[in-house]
Amino acid sequence: QNMTTVSITVVGASGDLAKKKIFPALFALYYEDFLPEHFTVFGYARSELTNEELRNMISKTLTCRIDKRENCSDKMEQFLQRCFYCSGQYDLEEDFKKLDEKLKQKETGRFPNRLFYLSIPSNIFVDVVRCASHCASSPIGWTRVIVEKPFGRDSESSRELTASLKQYLAEDQIFRIDHYLGKELVENLSVLRFSNLVFEPLWSRQYIRNVQLIFSEDFGTEGRGGYFDSYGIIRDIMQNHLLQILALFAMETPVSLDAEDIRNEKVKVLRSMRALEVDDVVIGQYKGHSKGGKSYPSYTDDPTVPSNSITPTFAAAAMFIDNARWDGVPFLVKAGKALHYKGAEIRVQFRHVPGNLYRRNFGTDLDKNTNELVIRVQPNEAIYLKINNKVPGLGMRLDRSNLNLLYAAKYQSEIPDAYERLLLDAIAGERRLFIRSDELDAAWALFTPLLRELEEKHIAPELYPYGSRGPVGAHYLAAKHNVRKYTKA
Ligand code: BG6
Repeated sequence: QNMTTVSITVVGASGDLAKKKIFPALFALYYEDFLPEHFTVFGYARSELTNEELRNMISKTLTCRIDKRENCSDKMEQFLQRCFYCSGQYDLEEDFKKLDEKLKQKETGRFPNRLFYLSIPSNIFVDVVRCASHCASSPIGWTRVIVEKPFGRDSESSRELTASLKQYLAEDQIFRIDHYLGKELVENLSVLRFSNLVFEPLWSRQYIRNVQLIFSEDFGTEGRGGYFDSYGIIRDIMQNHLLQILALFAMETPVSLDAEDIRNEKVKVLRSMRALEVDDVVIGQYKGHSKGGKSYPSYTDDPTVPSNSITPTFAAAAMFIDNARWDGVPFLVKAGKALHYKGAEIRVQFRHVPGNLYRRNFGTDLDKNTNELVIRVQPNEAIYLKINNKVPGLGMRLDRSNLNLLYAAKYQSEIPDAYERLLLDAIAGERRLFIRSDELDAAWALFTPLLRELEEKHIAPELYPYGSRGPVGAHYLAAKHNVRKYTKA
């Protein structure tokens, strides 16, 4: 492999994402010996910092994931010695020439490869890519660029962005990151389905009644209102994170585990999706209140959010895949901020057993007692299956129990952060977990008409109290599609 030297330049090095996710992920990879022998990390941003100042800034967010691991502080020091800083404007080629000089000085091994991580707003992607490709791309090795969403706001702007990037980069140099694809349980989805006989044959309309994909945060947009207000929850979470999970969940069996085979199948699912109807969508926005002596803000209390904003902080949509496998199965996709809990999960409700012998033990509603498979993506990663079981003892009473796989109990090793897996894949040139441009197009094609309709008609979100279960409308939507409420097993 020509992985012998890699320089990783984090453009936008002083931003939140860089500090909280990218540098810590790089350090974790270094700690675990996953980085190539010759690597350097460069921070690039506008502010004037010395290498030492950058190192101080980075060191504040480095952790060893588990405290008291061996040599943690030595390893941190060694890692920081590989970090350097270059200040410059995002649109000045001469500043990228300076970066190129600095990169060259540090590239000691053979075949220097260069990875750029654009941790900056998307309106400056093209400037950076132009300057970097003209002045700082690797002369003999590969040059790759990781870009973070938002990739545009709708079909048109996304296509424009792709076309502009492609003036300077080939598609195989662009790594569009969706960090949900790097999460352990999302990656496990295919393993669970395709390597278990008890699941694989059941994965269709014949046995599955509905699927829920849920993203819930128990905090608002505090501190990010400016960004959030021009995107809203549909663009921030649904169009990417949840839709990607849906595509992985519902795709046909790929020819192989190769990136292109998997992404071919994902695109097919996305392109088979039915246009979204406004009637099948509920939007909400959180409002403040006081509870137990504590007061919770409204979304519009944020000074960077206009006081009359109708940007949704919650959305639920019933989606359908019009193909032979999923015909008529509702996929209820829900995402919200400032709700009652923090978590992301996939819930699969199965149909009832035809002619169930124990029908009378369940009372009148058989549907209330069907199996449910829950994949808890985070926190407390777990997979559990709700089954019906006889309560031990004389007589015949049934109840619902869980077959339970709790990661913390079963696996002692800690779960790597999504960014670690994705950075490692980008360095290795593995594209399986990155979004191809046709996938992106298909995702926007699905949401653009809905977003346009919501915006043109100024459809106001339903208000829901901060920390609640979200708008009541979402519960009606679930009921309309026959989605059973959660029952604690
Ligand atoms: C980001 C969104 O992509 O994902 C944020 O922009 C959201 O709004 C975040 O908070 C959630 O990521 P995670 O990994 O903390 O669930």
